[in-house]
Amino acid sequence: MKWKVTLSDLNFDQREQKMVDRVIKSKWLTMGETVERLEREFADFMGTKHAIAVSSGTAALHLAMRALNIKSDDEVIVPSLNFVASSNAILYVGAKPVFVDINGLNDFNLSCDDLKMRITPKTRAIVVVHYGGYLADMERIKKIARKHKLFIIEDSAHAIGADLNSKMAGTLGEIGCFSFFSNKNLATGEGGMIVTDNGQLARKLKLLRSHGMTSMTLNRHKGHAYSYDVVELGYNYRMTEISAALGILQLKKLYRGNKKRKVLTEIYVSNLKEAEGLSFPFENYPRKSSYHLFPILLNKSVNRKKFMELLKKEGIQSSIHYPPIHRFSYYRKNLKGSQNKLPLTEHVGRHEVTLPLHPLLKKEDILFVCDQIKRILPQVKR
Ligand SMILES: Cc1ncc(COP(=O)(O)O)c(C=O)c1O
Repeated sequence: MKWKVTLSDLNFDQREQKMVDRVIKSKWLTMGETVERLEREFADFMGTKHAIAVSSGTAALHLAMRALNIKSDDEVIVPSLNFVASSNAILYVGAKPVFVDINGLNDFNLSCDDLKMRITPKTRAIVVVHYGGYLADMERIKKIARKHKLFIIEDSAHAIGADLNSKMAGTLGEIGCFSFFSNKNLATGEGGMIVTDNGQLARKLKLLRSHGMTSMTLNRHKGHAYSYDVVELGYNYRMTEISAALGILQLKKLYRGNKKRKVLTEIYVSNLKEAEGLSFPFENYPRKSSYHLFPILLNKSVNRKKFMELLKKEGIQSSIHYPPIHRFSYYRKNLKGSQNKLPLTEHVGRHEVTLPLHPLLKKEDILFVCDQIKRILPQVKR
């Protein structure tokens, strides 16, 4: 499919090419000095003590569960309107995901009122997702977590660069997890990062990322270490030097990229305001965003499938964020009886559409999408 307007795109140029060439010439491809540099620069950018690079956002979430010693019989509260990775990470450690509903049709972040209802003596942690980059109500969530002695793991895959009173998303709980998947605001293909201010957690995360081994291959290669011990049951969740090289340059582009995303979002909103049959979930949102996604919510009278098909016919790519996790076959089969109704999540799961948004788009691209939407909407009323 040749798209005229893609949902996301890689903001790469000859600088990324050069940096990757340099890594290839160095003949050291696995976790080494480039990864260490990215970790230092990422920690500086985030204003956090520790940044630990990993192979994906999913690996980051899994390691967060392990580092916080979450295990079978524990419960972890997580929004169902979310990518499946964060609840899968809860299952990986044998714990039970307990799904929480969203605030409403104008705020897709988790509802604090519903969150309070889901806490039991078994609850150990909350996974907070900043949907589409829009910061969740961390002040309220933190109060609830403090009262019930719960850990906060931020799934900040969407929210890189968004801040709350100058404190970055990802640094507002115990552990923050980031994804550098191809469609993210900072993209390296595959990759991720974990941030924390807690030195003990950082040490454990580093061990778990590489088989629980006490020395790295690079240290042995350089003759700095002779052998190693294995002190934890860890994984191979290491980042490659090539991913880290891309990450270093992408981090430099992040601020401008997010700013451009904001401008494009405003163009969408002002040009779709009069369109009948849709609403904007985060209009006049009180907190900041990294503008990862531009979601719209179609009225019940609009046939979403046809709407997306007609967009596709015009070469406009769209997507759905998200089919609710608790409705997936695997979850229905394996978490039987434990899933209460999540009416708002289910409504959004049925009527949301995500439109193209990335820094390479021009104003004319957004205007083209808006014109097509206004033309298509009257045709797809039920
Ligand atoms: C909200 C959210 N969490 C977690 C992930 C998982 O990240 P990765 O694909 O890097 O494993 C993603 C990636 O798509 C995501 O969007």
